[in-house]
Amino acid sequence: MDSLEQLVNSAQADFLAAPDAAALENAKAKYLGKTGQITALMKGLGQLEASERKAQGAVINAAKEQIEQALNARRDALANAQMLARLNAESIDITLPGRGRSIGGLHPVLRSWQRIEEIFKSIGFAVADGPEIEDDWTNFTALNNPENHPARSMQDTFYIDGQDSSGKPLLLRPHTSPVQVRYARHNKPPIKVIAPGRTYRVDSDATHSPMFHQVEGLWIADNISFADLKGVYLNFVRAFFETDDLQVRFRPSYFPFTEPSAEIDIAFGSGPLKGRWLEVSGAGQVHPTVVRNFGLDPEQFVGFAFGSGIERLTMLRYGINDLRLFYEGDLRFLKQFN
Ligand code: FA5
Ligand code: MG
Repeated sequence: MDSLEQLVNSAQADFLAAPDAAALENAKAKYLGKTGQITALMKGLGQLEASERKAQGAVINAAKEQIEQALNARRDALANAQMLARLNAESIDITLPGRGRSIGGLHPVLRSWQRIEEIFKSIGFAVADGPEIEDDWTNFTALNNPENHPARSMQDTFYIDGQDSSGKPLLLRPHTSPVQVRYARHNKPPIKVIAPGRTYRVDSDATHSPMFHQVEGLWIADNISFADLKGVYLNFVRAFFETDDLQVRFRPSYFPFTEPSAEIDIAFGSGPLKGRWLEVSGAGQVHPTVVRNFGLDPEQFVGFAFGSGIERLTMLRYGINDLRLFYEGDLRFLKQFN
């Protein structure tokens, strides 16, 4: 009996001394494992007299239970200690300021794009788009630029590798006007549409960027005149700039696809260029040849078109004197719009 009590004491001591779960499992093997001391005692029962076996068995079982209890108690203690250590190690200092996750915002040019769509939708215009890679016929010929006419090089165009079905080089569209052709050929009058999108030219200075945005406008019906152009455009810029106090001028100009033609200038109302004129748009009454290329009878259908620079409108809205700021990715500039 003494030896059993000693065994229990020694197991309890070994378990308590085990510094971690692995050591504890090793210590357990010494008593309860296949070759452990308790296991050996149990096996030894077989050699005892039947009368002794029962009493001895009960005593060994009681010792075994005590050892198991000690084992479980130590297991719990070790698990708790480990959890506590983790909690301490992984604790966070809630008094530190947060690292912060800044939220992206819309680019000012995209903001303008969205405003333009909203304004024109509110007066019944559809919104269309077209490909940025154009073919020669849609970008030039259909828009009444005769073959070999200087008008074709008037807009300094980026040509790209690849040809259209007639063998002419493909190009990055220098304006959104080809969308007029694509849209009008697939829709019946009255045609009332805007087409905002990216455009490309060999251009770069404070008011010209090689990639920029235009919004094309086209309204063709049986009675749409240059007067309607003026009314619609003035209504648009007043809504866009949220003021009636604007200096807007229609300046006579030339485009092969409109006759008469105008360019539209607006004066800066704020910023370093306050009072200076900035051209925002070309416009005019759609040329009869272009109406015919739409697949329509120019005797029956007339209307106007315009093509406005979205960067230019944005410069005027916020009083920005250099359009290149839009594309330098300087957060100090961009953050002001969000
Ligand atoms: C045109 O592109 C004509 N397609 C506009 C038009 C459409 C006339 C329909 C008649 C009927 P223009 O080259 O002037 O026209 O360009 C129109 C506007 O785009 C300019 O007034 C200007 O606001 C803007 N723009 C032109 N080039 C650039 C550029 N490189 N960077 C930024 N904006 C530009
Ligand atoms: Mg112009």
